[in-house]
This record gives sequence, structure tokens and C-alpha cells, in this order.
Amino acid sequence: MAYAYGHGALAFGSRTLLLELARDKKILFFGGKGGVGKTTVSAAVALARANEGAKVLLVSTDPAHNLGHLFDQAIGPRPVRITAGLDAVEVDPGETVDAHLKEVSSALHSLMPVTQHSEIDKHMALSRDAPGMHEAAILERIADIINEGLEDYDLIVFDTAPSGHTARLMVLPEMMSAWTEGLIKRREKADRFAEFVRELGTDTTMEDKTIGGATQSEQEKESRIRQILLRRRHKFSHLRDHLADQAKTSFVIVLAAERLPVLETIELHHQLHHAGVKIDCLVVNKRAPTGMGEFLDNRHQQEEQHLEVLDKKLSKLPRQDLYLQPQDVLGLEGLEKFALSL
Ligand SMILES: Nc1ncnc2c1ncn2[C@@H]1O[C@H](COP(=O)(O)OP(=O)(O)O)[C@@H](O)[C@H]1O
Ligand SMILES: [Mg+2]
Repeated sequence: MAYAYGHGALAFGSRTLLLELARDKKILFFGGKGGVGKTTVSAAVALARANEGAKVLLVSTDPAHNLGHLFDQAIGPRPVRITAGLDAVEVDPGETVDAHLKEVSSALHSLMPVTQHSEIDKHMALSRDAPGMHEAAILERIADIINEGLEDYDLIVFDTAPSGHTARLMVLPEMMSAWTEGLIKRREKADRFAEFVRELGTDTTMEDKTIGGATQSEQEKESRIRQILLRRRHKFSHLRDHLADQAKTSFVIVLAAERLPVLETIELHHQLHHAGVKIDCLVVNKRAPTGMGEFLDNRHQQEEQHLEVLDKKLSKLPRQDLYLQPQDVLGLEGLEKFALSL
């Protein structure tokens, strides 16, 4: 019996929910565990909107990028054209961390005597691997992409990492603390060092007044480093405003209709709820089709049981189910086909 993938009415879930969200909003985030289909579904949604004539930017924030593999095309930290109306970009947190540390480090270098530069470099090298640094860098890139992208694109679609940084998006003040407070502390330490060197300078051994920044006012120093840190803080609070704006932004969780993914989704929803993130839609991907033999019918029934748990716990959440496809969803052609089932 022929089975029309992507056509015909779905007997479950709500059809076109994803497309409606994509038409309504400016920013979409797709989260969920690894392998559930975040990349596939977010790319298909982005493509579907581009095919409707919208200008769309698809962004991968997963360090294990696979947009490039999906489209069989090199994609990097700068947007590349996939098809008319669709650009894609893969966020590189390492690059952002390096750029930030270079900026702070050069500011510190200019404020401190040459003899202290290796000490500064040591601190900066340690900061590179500090907890939260990488995630803060991803968030910073997300902030930049949203700020710049909203002018050029009708829709920005984020394919996020399974690590759950989506959950942390809304806990930005804490994230920022890890980033900025650490650096401020380091700066204070550097200042103390400068003071110490200055004190030495007042001793007979060091007469050079430039050592330790003695000729520069404390305020000047303060403002230079603070400016860098405050600019970042401002960026984060701006991002938070965008994310909290429900008219503009939606969060979608993708999952499989299996026992553990269902339980994990309930947990993730709980966490996000506490972080102030409202989920607008659940996508249950790779659903077993019916009417194609006993095996798949049984599988479908089993899935229904798991989804009952989901519906009971998250009863108010709209859900869209997508069928398991007979072939891998690969390349522009595969995605075009899959996009028809949205
Ligand atoms: N509806 C589907 N039918 C068949 N294969 C799918 C479907 N959705 C995703 N896949 C396949 O599952 C694998 C994982 O999907 P992917 O989108 O990379 O997941 P994630 O980004 O969540 O890790 C890929 O090989 C993809 O082609
Ligand atoms: Mg992925």
C-alpha cells in the first residue's frame, strides 16, 4: 500500500503548528536531546519559510555542528547562502572567547607594566577554560546574531545544543556573573598588583612613575575595563528582553515518543518553566506510521501510551507529530520533501 509521506491528514498532533509559529514569530529556538531531530526539524522549518518567500537565517549553536553535513556544504561562523531566502551559520564559541579575552587582555596590558604582562596572560589563559565561559560566549554570539539579524531577516531559527543551554538562556544574570564577575575579580587583583608595584616604586628601588600605571588615574583604569564588561552585560540584558518577548520569540522542544525522552521532556519543560521560558510547542518526531503492517502498528500504539503521559503532564502544550521517514532526511532535496510534512 502506498503511503503518502508528508501528505494526507495526520491523525494526531496538530498540523502546521510549526509553520504557523514560524510565520508568526521572528525568533525560534529548537531544543531537546541529541538525535531526536532538532537539526532536521529546524532546518526544514527554516526552508519551508524561505520557500514561502521569507528571508530566513538558520543558526546552529551546537558545538558538534551538523548543518554542514545536512546540507552537504561548508558552513562556518559567517552566514552562507543555502538557497534563495535561506542563509545558515554555525556559531563558534572558541572564536568569541578568544576575541573577548584578547580585548580584555590588551586593555590590561596597556594599564600594567610590562613586567606584569606574563602574569596577565596567565590569568587570561586560565579564564579561557573557566566554567561558563564557553556558554557565555555562545550566548554572546546569539545576542549578536539576533541584534544584527533582526534587521536583515524575517525569521531567525536556532538549532541548539542538546546540553540544554536553552534552559540556561533565561538564567542569564547567573551566566553573566560567571563571566563578568570573574573578570572583574581578576582586574581587581591586577589593580592590587599595580598598587603593590607602586608601593615598591615609592621605595628607593623603583622611581619610574609609569610603573604600575602610577601616572594613570584609578578612574581611567576603572572605566576602560568596566566599559568592556558593561558593554557585554548590556548585550546580555538586551538578549533577555528579546527572549522574554513572547510576541517575537518561541521555544520548541523536539522529542521522540519513547519512555525516557518523554520523562526528560517533562523535566526540561519544568526547568525551563522555572527559568521563565515558555514553551510554545512540542514536536514529536520520527513517529511510527500506521496501516503499514503489524510491527509498526504495535510501535505506534506503544508511542501513544508514552504520549499519554506527556499529554497528562503537559496538557496545555500544543503538539505536532512528524512521521519517521523511509529514508534519511539529507540534503536540500530531502529537506524539501520533509518540509512538506510540516
Ligand atoms: N522524521 C525523521 N525520519 C527519519 N529520519 C529522521 C527524522 N528526523 C531526523 N531523522 C534522522 O535522525 C538523525 C538525527 O537527526 P538530527 O536532526 O541530526 O538530530 P539532533 O539535531 O536532534 O541531534 C539524522 O540522521 C536524521 O536524518
Ligand atoms: Mg543537531
